[in-house]
Amino acid sequence: MRKALLAAGGRATRLRPITHTLNKHLIPLANKPMLFYGIETLVKAGIKEIFVNVNPGETELQKVLGNGSRWGVSLKCIEQQGGPLGLAHIVRNAEPYLGNEPFIFYLGDNVILDSIGNMVEKFQRENLDMCLAFAHIANPKQFGVAEIVNGKLTRILEKPENPPSDLAQTGIYFYSPKIFDAVKAIKRSARGEYEISDANTWMIEHDRNVGWVEVPGWWKDTGRPEDLLEGNQFIMSHFRF
Ligand code: DAU
Repeated sequence: MRKALLAAGGRATRLRPITHTLNKHLIPLANKPMLFYGIETLVKAGIKEIFVNVNPGETELQKVLGNGSRWGVSLKCIEQQGGPLGLAHIVRNAEPYLGNEPFIFYLGDNVILDSIGNMVEKFQRENLDMCLAFAHIANPKQFGVAEIVNGKLTRILEKPENPPSDLAQTGIYFYSPKIFDAVKAIKRSARGEYEISDANTWMIEHDRNVGWVEVPGWWKDTGRPEDLLEGNQFIMSHFRF
C-alpha cells in the first residue's frame, strides 16, 4: 500500500466564522495544524505518495504542506474539478493519479491517534476491495451508519434519521481500484452530493470483497467547534510535547 488520497477541500460551514479566514484543515489542534495528524497517520502506515484533494484555486494549504519532504514522502495537491461535490466525487476526480493501485482514502478532518496498521494488514491479508473503519457512537445521526443484518454488513446509510446501529463510519477507507466502478455508478443524493456511503453500499451490493474493523483507540471528526475543543483537550492531556 503506497498511495493515499487525503480530503482537504469542502465548505466547512459548521466551523464558520473561523473558516472565513483560515482553511479548516489548518486550524491548530494542540501544537500543529489538524491536517498534519492525518498525514502522520498515513506516513506511519507506510504510505509514500499522498494526493491532497483541495478546492479549485486553493493556495494556502499548498504553501503549508509543500512537497511532503518534511514527512519524507511525495505530496501533491490536486484540485477537485467542479468544486466540493461530495466524497465519492473526490475519489472519481483522483482516478488519474491513483491509477491501478490500492489506496487509503482519508478525510482530513478526522483525527485518530493509534496506528491504522491493523487495517493495512487485514486489507492485504484478506485481499479486500474495501475495508471500512467504524466507531461506536452514542448518537450516530450525523455520520454514515452501518446496517448489520445477521452479523453481515448490508448497507451504509448517510446521516439517517433512524440509525440502524451505533456503528459510525469513520473517515478512513481502504480501496482497491474496483471503487472507481462504484463512484461512477452512483447518483447524487437528495442533498446534491456524491456520497461515499452510496459508493460503499454499491461495493457491498455488487459482491465486492468487503471487510471492516473497529477503529483502534481515540477517534474524532473535528467538524464542529465543540469537537475541536474536545480534540484539543484530549491531545494536550495525553501527550508530552
Ligand atoms: O467523519 C466521518 C464522516 O465523514 C462519515 O461518517 C460520513 O459518512 C461522511 O460522509 C463524512 O461526513 P461529513 O459530513 O463529516 O463530511 P464533510 O462534508 O465534513 O467532509 C469530510 C472531509 O472532506 C472534510 O475534510 C472536507 C472534505 N471534503 C468534503 C466534501 C463534501 C472535500 O474535500 N470535498 C468535498 O466535496
